[in-house]
Amino acid sequence: MKNVVIIGAGVIGLSWARLFAENGWNVQISDPRPDLTEVVERELRGVKVHLVTDLPTALREADFVQEAGPERMDIKREMYANLAEHTRDDVILASSSSSLLPSLIAEGNPAAHRILIGHPFNPPELMPLVEVVPGPATEQRHVDRAVELYRELGKLPIALKREIPGFVGNRLQKALGDQARYLVQEGIISAGELDQLVRASLGLRWAVTGPFESNHLGGGPGGIRHLMEHVGSQMTFEMGEPDPAKTGEIVTQVEAAYGTGPENYERLAAWRDETTRAVSRALAAHDGGASAGTEAAA
Ligand SMILES: NC(=O)c1ccc[n+]([C@@H]2O[C@H](COP(=O)([O-])OP(=O)(O)OC[C@H]3O[C@@H](n4cnc5c(N)ncnc54)[C@H](O)[C@@H]3O)[C@@H](O)[C@H]2O)c1
Repeated sequence: MKNVVIIGAGVIGLSWARLFAENGWNVQISDPRPDLTEVVERELRGVKVHLVTDLPTALREADFVQEAGPERMDIKREMYANLAEHTRDDVILASSSSSLLPSLIAEGNPAAHRILIGHPFNPPELMPLVEVVPGPATEQRHVDRAVELYRELGKLPIALKREIPGFVGNRLQKALGDQARYLVQEGIISAGELDQLVRASLGLRWAVTGPFESNHLGGGPGGIRHLMEHVGSQMTFEMGEPDPAKTGEIVTQVEAAYGTGPENYERLAAWRDETTRAVSRALAAHDGGASAGTEAAA
């Protein structure tokens, strides 16, 4: 049985733990939080995971490390110095980071050649994508192995050609999120209505065809060529930027729309997970969710 050490038992680490355990890995999870035992008992009931009491020993036995600690460069650097010291020289150290550059996480680290990003979308156990992002020092063989490993976990890993802050998924998410906040701050639409609008249009569309394939279909038989020349050529308006000073307004609206607190979170997350599973099953039933286009899956 292969050993994975998961660093961090927050939102992402707990979900990785369930995914690795369900795929037959021996899972060890490490987190200094004082309520670790309670959290694991509550969130991972029925899942076989071991709580790490002696990290160097756990790391010496590790075949793979998935780090899901805080999104802070100083903490990550300190963690990776420790991970490098206690792991075998062929063990991949994969960070779940949402935006930090692997080159900076690995700066001055003797294990830089085996440090990479394995960025999931939340929750990792349900969302297919893992972005695999190498730093300039990451060896290609480790990128290839990480891709293979995530595929064996049932994920859809996509390796980026080189690093860029925010990677691809979160750059796209940021562009859309900035515009969503701008529109709500301008009073054009409420936060709840904006969510409904996206779910009823771009969300459903993009689960079936990506933005480029959608463009190609949006142009009719003339495809993207026609779309860019006609509808696309008119999209020249100024976009505007959200005002960081008015973030509080957004938070108030979102909390009013969806509620707050741990019980509310459990209820919303359970509904999200059940619905995501149902959508994934429906997509998988149609060609495994692959596009009808020949190039799309390449
Ligand atoms: N939440 C998301 O939507 C999301 C999605 C994809 C990736 N990520 C990334 O995953 C990582 C974790 O995010 P999260 O949302 O789970 O955060 P979180 O705050 O829920 O969890 C972080 C955990 O790390 C623990 N921690 C602190 N110091 C530690 C140490 N030295 N060793 C081990 N654990 C330590 C904390 O106690 C906490 O439980 C971040 O890098 C984040 O960018 C988050």
